[in-house]
Amino acid sequence: MRNKIIAGNWKMNKDVSQSLALVGELKKALSFDLGTTKVIICPPFTSLAAVHVLIKGTPIALGAQNMYHEDEGAFTAEISPSMLKSVGCQYVILGHSERRQYFGETNEFINKKVKKAIASDLIPIVCVGETLEEREKNITDQIVSTQVKGVLKDIPANQVEKLIIAYEPVWAIGTGKNATPQQAEDVHKLIRKLIGQLYSWSTAEQVVIQYGGSVKPDNAADLLSQPNIDGALVGGACLKADSFASIIKASVK
Ligand code: 13P
Repeated sequence: MRNKIIAGNWKMNKDVSQSLALVGELKKALSFDLGTTKVIICPPFTSLAAVHVLIKGTPIALGAQNMYHEDEGAFTAEISPSMLKSVGCQYVILGHSERRQYFGETNEFINKKVKKAIASDLIPIVCVGETLEEREKNITDQIVSTQVKGVLKDIPANQVEKLIIAYEPVWAIGTGKNATPQQAEDVHKLIRKLIGQLYSWSTAEQVVIQYGGSVKPDNAADLLSQPNIDGALVGGACLKADSFASIIKASVK
């Protein structure tokens, strides 16, 4: 049985004092029983250390939005897994479509980071998803399958079981136009079936697959009620404590 995981990707928003204010409000807004739902927030690098102090002893876990696949060295401006762990991160988003689109990240490069994150005891939230053009050409399944195979290359089953995959159709990100629950469910099912073929059905059943792309309080319950949608990776709506809390509430049984 997979538990729901709701993660907030803050992207390049909130300086340190704004981050602390948002976390303060979120702590208040999360006064209800979370049941088995897990909550993760992924603020910018500059806010991680301060936010970590504020969420200690709460059910909120910390994640980063990216990392590099080396431990240390001459890699100006990059951040290593041990640096993330030293500020309390347990999760890291890898291969977000904005990284792929604006910074040229490839499946091969993302695969190196996924392996390194796992080896460093960080749980990767690995993103996949098609563009509007690809969906209109009816090649969504092919694109997403290639991405999943590429990012999971040479990763053994016992490690795949622990990671999180986020299906984020690029055309739904920040556009206010979410995939319908059925459109999302179809791709989630495809991803789970593919993992079943690559590994085993028991591995496939354990992998958490989140949906991301214009998740809002008013569409969260429908999306999260689909059998293969195990949570959400939320962008815009996680920047307000009340809307993020409403999405979390929608995941609680
Ligand atoms: P929005 O929720 O703003 O569409 O962003 C989704 C996303 O990219 C989360 O990683």
